[in-house]
Amino acid sequence: MELELRGVSKYFEDFTAVENVSFSIKKGELFSLLGPSGCGKTTTLRMIAGFYAPDIGGIYLKGKEITHQPLDRRGTAMVFQNYALFPHMTVFENIAFGLKMQKLDKSSIAKRVQDVLNLIQLPHIETKYPRELSGGMQQRVAIARAIVIHPEVLLLDEPLSNLDAKLREELRMDIRKIQQKIGITTVFVTHDISEAFAMSDRIAVMQNGKVMQIGSPREIYEQPVNEFVGAFVGKSNRFSVQIDDITGDIAIAGNESLQMRLRVKQLPVARGDVLAVMVRPERISLIETPSSRAGRNVHQGTVLHTYYLGNQNHYEVMVNNCKFTVEMANNGSRIFEQGEKCYIEWGIEDSVYFNNANRDC
Ligand SMILES: Nc1ncnc2c1ncn2[C@@H]1O[C@H](COP(=O)(O)OP(=O)(O)OP(=O)(O)O)[C@@H](O)[C@H]1O
Ligand SMILES: [Mg+2]
Repeated sequence: MELELRGVSKYFEDFTAVENVSFSIKKGELFSLLGPSGCGKTTTLRMIAGFYAPDIGGIYLKGKEITHQPLDRRGTAMVFQNYALFPHMTVFENIAFGLKMQKLDKSSIAKRVQDVLNLIQLPHIETKYPRELSGGMQQRVAIARAIVIHPEVLLLDEPLSNLDAKLREELRMDIRKIQQKIGITTVFVTHDISEAFAMSDRIAVMQNGKVMQIGSPREIYEQPVNEFVGAFVGKSNRFSVQIDDITGDIAIAGNESLQMRLRVKQLPVARGDVLAVMVRPERISLIETPSSRAGRNVHQGTVLHTYYLGNQNHYEVMVNNCKFTVEMANNGSRIFEQGEKCYIEWGIEDSVYFNNANRDC
């Protein structure tokens, strides 16, 4: 393992900012810390960078403990949210700064700076000052300044959050390409779900200082370990149902408005258990006549609202007293109007559920 956190906690007086966080990151991996504001992402990153020492636990790079190593001897380099370029220095001087500290000779510095400017695809801006660059260019230079010293681990704290949406999307792909090209182990902090999904090999979802789940983007989205993770990473239809019957690995569960079949895969479940069920809106289809495909849950409903979004159609559909959100690609199939009768269907595999049997409420 390249970078490892073992049982790391950090307190600010009596407030627990990070609690018992452990994860291992492989060489060359881009690992994201994803979670709502205040969940402890930056604090975790700052402990890896050496700005804070953990109160409990240790940090290891290539198996060697670096928990209390000084900042410049840890092999990490950090890029901050608001471009921390030196305003009075040119791009060249900004990037060369760390190399000068390492006392590299002039010609090696010039070559390293030019190489890294080529890498970020801004080869001709050495003599410019930060104020003469766009926000996106400044962030590229900040990344160049971090990687020019050849760190073992690159730490990025919301590096795109000050940029407009279009530039963010462009730059996230550029960062991912640079990261893969040089194969640098990277910890990326963000609260933007699509950014984390688009860029990461694996993601740790955090809540209240704790890691809730670690997995690939697909695992996190399709097999969330709890309702918080499932709801945080995407929209879903959520129902409370009770299990009426189980045959083999198919459970029949329902409430006063609807009955559904579920493939039993996670957690042991038993008749009478109350489950919280989540179905993603894009896994539900709106159809005119119920299909006879096996393994589908089909319900008759009424379209409450139609939202035409160009590439997609979103619907609200009432099935008895349950409101469903359905998102369908606008692929040329029929668009349903408000007030129309329709059927909705989804696969018995498409539900994620959590056992609430032991809940008080
Ligand atoms: N130096 C500090 N002193 C006291 N409390 C702090 C300090 N730094 C962070 N905290 C608190 O610790 C918690 C975690 O903060 P942190 O900055 O790690 O969150 P974050 O996940 O990065 O949030 P954001 O997405 O808003 O950047 C917050 O409640 C914050 O107020
Ligand atoms: Mg933060």
